[in-house]
Amino acid sequence: MTPLLELRDVHKTFQGRGRTVRASRGVSLKVMPGEVVGLVGESGSGKSTVANMALGLLAPDSGEVLVHGERLIGASRKREKELRARVQAVFQEPLLALDSRRTIGWSIAEPLRIHGRGTRAEQEARVAELLTAVGLDPAFAERLPSQMSGGQLQRVNIARAIALDPELLVCDEPVSALDVSVQAQIINLFLEVQERLGIGMLFISHDLAVVRHLVDRIVVMYAGRVVEEGPTDELCANPHHPYTRALLAASLEPDADEAGVGVRTATTDATAAEGVPQEGCPFLPRCPLAEPACSEMPVVALAPTGPGRASACRRSGVLVEAGASTSNHD
Ligand SMILES: Nc1ncnc2c1ncn2[C@@H]1O[C@H](COP(=O)(O)OP(=O)(O)OP(=O)(O)O)[C@@H](O)[C@H]1O
Ligand SMILES: [Mg+2]
Repeated sequence: MTPLLELRDVHKTFQGRGRTVRASRGVSLKVMPGEVVGLVGESGSGKSTVANMALGLLAPDSGEVLVHGERLIGASRKREKELRARVQAVFQEPLLALDSRRTIGWSIAEPLRIHGRGTRAEQEARVAELLTAVGLDPAFAERLPSQMSGGQLQRVNIARAIALDPELLVCDEPVSALDVSVQAQIINLFLEVQERLGIGMLFISHDLAVVRHLVDRIVVMYAGRVVEEGPTDELCANPHHPYTRALLAASLEPDADEAGVGVRTATTDATAAEGVPQEGCPFLPRCPLAEPACSEMPVVALAPTGPGRASACRRSGVLVEAGASTSNHD
C-alpha cells in the first residue's frame, strides 16, 4: 500500500541572526491511509518544520516529501493543486486561516471556491453540513470570528480542513492554544471526525499526554531527528529511548510543562535544536543512562527494537529488557 504521506531523509537548516539551526536532520516518516500518527517532542525539536514540509509550505534542503508516492514540489501546477487538496492542515492559532473581516461561512467555503467544487448554493449547503459535523449550529455561518470562542474557532478550522474530503490532516499543536477544559472536547472531535471519514492524520504535540489517547503510532523527535517510533500503547508502556522515557515521566506530572526534563511550551524561545552537541548523541548531556562509551560514538541510527518499533540509542537494549522483565511479572 502506498503511504498517504512519506518523508524520506528530509533535511532542513535555517540560517539567521548569526546562527545555524538544523531543524530537520534526516527525518523519515510515513502515514498510511487511515492511520493516525502522533509526532511529539519538546519545543524546537523540529515538529513544525516537518509539518510545513509535509504540507509543501516549506521546501526541504534535501530528501523527499511524497504525497501518494508523488513529489509535491516539482509536480505540475494542476497536479500540485490536486495533491494539495488531499492534504489539509489545522494549526495552533485558530485565527491563522480565518479572515477576521469575513463570516465563518465564507471561510469554510473558501477551499470549495478555490477548487471549484459545486455551485454557490451547493457550497452553502455544504457549509451548513460541515458546521453540523463539527458540532456547531449552521446559523454560525453568519458570524464573524470575533464573535466566537477559541474552541468554536478551532471547530471552524476543522470544518474548513475537511471541506474537500481530504485523505490526510496535518494538525500542528491544534489544541495547545485552547483552555485545558476545551482541549479534551476538540480532541474528541478529531477522533470522531477521523473515525467517521476514515482519514489519516499527522497529529503534532509537545505533550505526549495529548496524543496518547488519539493516535495509533507515535514518532518522537529530538533536536531535528526521530529518536523513537512505535505503536502508542507499547511505546508508552515501555519506551525504548531515554528521551521518550523522560517525556512520558513529564506528561504524567500535573505541571508537565514545568517538569524537570525540559519539556517546554510552544511559547518559550529556548529550543532543543540549540545547545545540543553537533557530533554524537544529541541527548547525551541530559541522558540518565549515558555511559562514557556513548560519547565516543557517532550518532546512533534509528534501528528496530521490536515489532513496529525503533529507537536511536546505543543503550536501547537496557530499556527493551527492562520492559520485557516488567511484562513477565504481571
Ligand atoms: N523560519 C525559521 N527561521 C529560523 N529558524 C527557524 C525557522 N523556523 C524554525 N526555526 C528554528 O528551527 C528549530 C525547530 O523549530 P520548529 O518550529 O520546527 O520546532 P517545534 O518542534 O515545532 O517547536 P514548538 O513546539 O515550539 O512549536 C527551532 O530552533 C526554531 O527556532
Ligand atoms: Mg511547532
